[in-house]
Amino acid sequence: MLEKFERYPLTFGPTHIEHLPRLSEALGGKVEIYAKRDDCNSGLALGGNKLRKLEYIVPDAIASNADTLVSIGGVQSNHTRMVAATAAKIGMKCVVVQESWVPHEDAVYDRVGNIMLTRLMGADSRIVEEGFDIGIRQSWEDAMQSVRDAGGKPYGIPAGASVHKYGGLGYVGFAEEVRTQEKELGFAFDYIIVCVVTGSTQGGMIVGFAADDRADKVIGIDASGTLEQTRAQVREIVDNTAELVELGRKVRDDEIVINPDYAYPAYGVPSHETNEAIRLAAQTEAMITDPVYEGKSMQGMIDLVRKGFFPEDSKILYAHLGGAPALNGYAYTYRNG
Ligand SMILES: Cc1ncc(COP(=O)(O)O)c(C=O)c1O
Repeated sequence: MLEKFERYPLTFGPTHIEHLPRLSEALGGKVEIYAKRDDCNSGLALGGNKLRKLEYIVPDAIASNADTLVSIGGVQSNHTRMVAATAAKIGMKCVVVQESWVPHEDAVYDRVGNIMLTRLMGADSRIVEEGFDIGIRQSWEDAMQSVRDAGGKPYGIPAGASVHKYGGLGYVGFAEEVRTQEKELGFAFDYIIVCVVTGSTQGGMIVGFAADDRADKVIGIDASGTLEQTRAQVREIVDNTAELVELGRKVRDDEIVINPDYAYPAYGVPSHETNEAIRLAAQTEAMITDPVYEGKSMQGMIDLVRKGFFPEDSKILYAHLGGAPALNGYAYTYRNG
């Protein structure tokens, strides 16, 4: 589906699919859980889902003759870390606006983890006061203008690289990769679990899996806490991406599945159940998930397994999208494990 698009390699290649027998067993042993390790997808600054998306965006950035990538996220944004990494790797400058999306408790929250790595890679990281919002933001437009005012040429990448015209392509590739790996494994997955916030990860997967008519088996676990906006953004990305890759049909609303039950109490704030999920994955499989994104999709998967949502013997693929560096900003919560 992606042959006609230029791709700039930022990742190692297809990501590993790992069986999680101890987690499966801890949840009753009636389903088999696997993880696709997009958290280990690259040597660039600890990797993560954004690199799959950026591989299809970088050729456009280079062709535009820009000299500065400009993007936006929260203070502990994985996305801005990945844009900073990409800029360093391709030899561009980088400006990232870091909005105050999360009410935080740790004194070093704005100095460790993602933001520290972002600064280390030379990005101009600008913290602003605005709260959480996945849409296009004035602060991002202002940052682009500031690059122009200084005589530079900005290339804008929206939050999560999601509403960029090519933002959904990378995760169409994820679906194609899974299909190939399923042939090698000798079975197909019944469900795919994925965290959703800005939308192009799940949006791309939906289009990719719509090609073999199982988009509705991609269960998005919302971590935004602003479901309507996330759903509308996924819809938009699905439509745009389906047209780009010439899917040949419109994806139906019932093929976009987003579960809102685990985003509480708010974006970036883990619940007790999120923390328990993070501990369980860490203690059964040494698989590290974070309090903002993957901990919530882990919590969702665990709860759905316990509730019997998945028929017995289902094979479930948990898409691990990265995010562990943010744990450093929550050191107090996990001070005793
Ligand atoms: C680790 C991690 N997981 C999940 C997501 C959600 O992906 P998306 O924003 O494409 O919905 C993000 C980014 O927002 C992320 O950094």
